Amino acid sequence: MQIRNATAIAHPNIALIKYWGNRDHALRLPANSSLSMNLAALATTTTVEFISDLGTDRVVIDGAEATASARERVVAHLDRVRALASLNTRAIVTSHNNFPAGTGLASSASAFAALSVAACAAAGLALSTDALSRLARRGSGSACRSVPSGFVLWNTCDEDDCSFGRTLAPPYHWDLRDVIAIVESAHKATGSTEGHAIAGTSPFQVARVASTPERLERCRAAILAHDFLALADVIEQDALAMHAVMMTSVPSLLYWRPATLAVMQAVRAWRAAGLAVAFTIDAGPNVHCICPAEFSTQVERLVRAIPGVERVLVSGVGEGSHLVS
Ligand code: DP6
Repeated sequence: MQIRNATAIAHPNIALIKYWGNRDHALRLPANSSLSMNLAALATTTTVEFISDLGTDRVVIDGAEATASARERVVAHLDRVRALASLNTRAIVTSHNNFPAGTGLASSASAFAALSVAACAAAGLALSTDALSRLARRGSGSACRSVPSGFVLWNTCDEDDCSFGRTLAPPYHWDLRDVIAIVESAHKATGSTEGHAIAGTSPFQVARVASTPERLERCRAAILAHDFLALADVIEQDALAMHAVMMTSVPSLLYWRPATLAVMQAVRAWRAAGLAVAFTIDAGPNVHCICPAEFSTQVERLVRAIPGVERVLVSGVGEGSHLVS
């Protein structure tokens, strides 16, 4: 029996300019470019073992056998790696998230970033960061942004070979924090993949996509210049543009809860009173409160006091995906 194994770690990322909708669903080529920051405090660690006499792939996530649909998605990704490496061997994939299960933060981004890095190393493939990011994108679009380090820009384009994430600035460039207000822990009713598929049914998706380059440029410039108020404006605008599309899709996706709105309103009031903090929200009800590190203790304390906030996680800006063994 021959075993080839590798372990990789990856962080989820929070999009400051959102990816929503695809120009090619099968290849996960996004409708628009997006920009994110990796979250250092949250991590997925994944081991891939290719074992010569294994009859079928096995996938274990946080100590439990993966559901059929999760397993299928992982096996499809292993197949991509096997095709690149001309390998036939089945594998055992063991994945562990350090963020508590049931926080609504289970992230396909860190999952497919860690899986890509570990599976390629175990298969003996030495891919560049660009190529690993491209591969991770096929598993989950946002995963391509968890491969490079720090603040990451994912450019849209029409071809598979030019759509991947690249570092805009390293983690130490700007010590921002994401104070995550968890207002509901349940698994989301409609996942991102189904959401991307119906984005085009909203009359606002065309306008959102057309206006994204301008927001992306403002966001990029704000990050490079450490201009928090410019960043605050543009990330809130972009998140709301995405949620406007979600709400007006067919079927309509309404992810917010009363506590979601309570945190959004509070963030706006705190900012008006001089506290540097802004919100962004992914495909769920939890609110990511972005602030410079020096304000994170105060923001965390304020967020915890809002009724309906079940728990709070705080993260700085993280590195890219890498091998640990
Ligand atoms: C709202 O990358 O999770 O978080 O490619 O189908 O796996 P799939 O979708 P996913 O979509 C992320 C959507 C988002 C915005 C973002 O992260 O840019």
